[in-house]
Amino acid sequence: MSAPLAAAGPSAYWYLSRGTGAVALLLLTASVVLGVLGSLRFAAAPRWPRFAIDALHRDVSLLVIALLLLHILTSVLDGFAPITLTDAVIPFASAYRPLWLGLGALSFDLLLALVITSLVRRRLGYRAWRAIHWLAYASWPVAVLHGLGTGTDTKVWWMLGLTIVCVGAVLVAVWVRIGRAGAGSERLRMPAFVLTLASVAGIAIFTLAGPLQGGWARRAGTPQSLLAGTAPAANGGASAPSSAGGTAGGAAPGRAGAARFSAELRGKISQSSVAGGAVVDISLRLAGGARGRLRVRLGGAPIPGGGLSLTGSQVDLTADSLPAVMQGQIVSLQGQEFLARVSGAGSTLELRASLSIDNQTNAVTGTLTATPAG
Ligand code: HEM
Repeated sequence: MSAPLAAAGPSAYWYLSRGTGAVALLLLTASVVLGVLGSLRFAAAPRWPRFAIDALHRDVSLLVIALLLLHILTSVLDGFAPITLTDAVIPFASAYRPLWLGLGALSFDLLLALVITSLVRRRLGYRAWRAIHWLAYASWPVAVLHGLGTGTDTKVWWMLGLTIVCVGAVLVAVWVRIGRAGAGSERLRMPAFVLTLASVAGIAIFTLAGPLQGGWARRAGTPQSLLAGTAPAANGGASAPSSAGGTAGGAAPGRAGAARFSAELRGKISQSSVAGGAVVDISLRLAGGARGRLRVRLGGAPIPGGGLSLTGSQVDLTADSLPAVMQGQIVSLQGQEFLARVSGAGSTLELRASLSIDNQTNAVTGTLTATPAG
């Protein structure tokens, strides 16, 4: 019953690009926190001598650059979106989400300026180097906005949690630093406190009103050709299929509203006997950012020792941002993995699911990846 798999799933580059982006943000945050707190007196305790903090700050920053090179390379090699190496250094010029990708490029440029000026620090003079160093701290909020605005995983709890932890860590570090600033800086305390609070409120409002809402992929500037082939007229301008997408962070910032998306699955399996065979019904909820349901019904003859020899199937996918119910059939079934093709409102998606079934409780968990099909 298994036809060969009909389509390739998401490329490894896509996973690498997302993974390196998340780790780069974490390390950039660590570098900023070390930089902000490094000059405080408590940091000069015997166990943490100043030079050790400085060395850690420098090494973590270099690691960020290395990760970013990988992040950029994998984004370009992935080939899903029209992203070039030039887009990584020239901000706001890309065909794909110019503003949000441009913020990534801007952040990268600021970090490059920081590294280069640090290398020639002696020749540059301390004052000039320090001025550039402060400017480089701006790369952090810019990178946060880039990740939220264009990341596939913005709606997924762990990515959202990671971003909140990063923002919280920098906020605390800045407040500690402000609180311990020397005499003469009292006047600046309140404005600095209000400014940091306003920035965090701004990021929170943007996230709630933008990437966490349906249709973000379209609003973020994803080229029409990538929006899952969803006809705008039929769609009414709503977000394309993958907004439904889980990992896709509905905002499916990444391929979200559009093409590929992935989600976690959770649900139940049941089997009933019918004349000449059996029907297996798998009812699943999409989680991990997407809201929706996937229902798979398999009809066939039971195989001795377990399993089903498939004679027919029905697959239904609904999600809040899909223009319509997507319906179709299983194309291939191997063990607990299946490939299905579903269509609706002028678009077709290939669904690749990997399930894990608990025979005791009939609980089903798994992952789903949807790819637009021609
Ligand atoms: C300081 C610089 C940067 C940082 C810290 C950073 C970090 C991130 C983060 C955290 C994400 C979200 C990942 C996810 O949702 O799973 C992301 C997504 C992305 N970044 Fe960056 N990034 C930076 C610069 C760049 C640059 C220069 C490019 C240019 C090629 C780029 C391309 C992308 C792309 C294409 C995505 C979307 C990947 C996807 O989810 O499909 N980033 N980045």
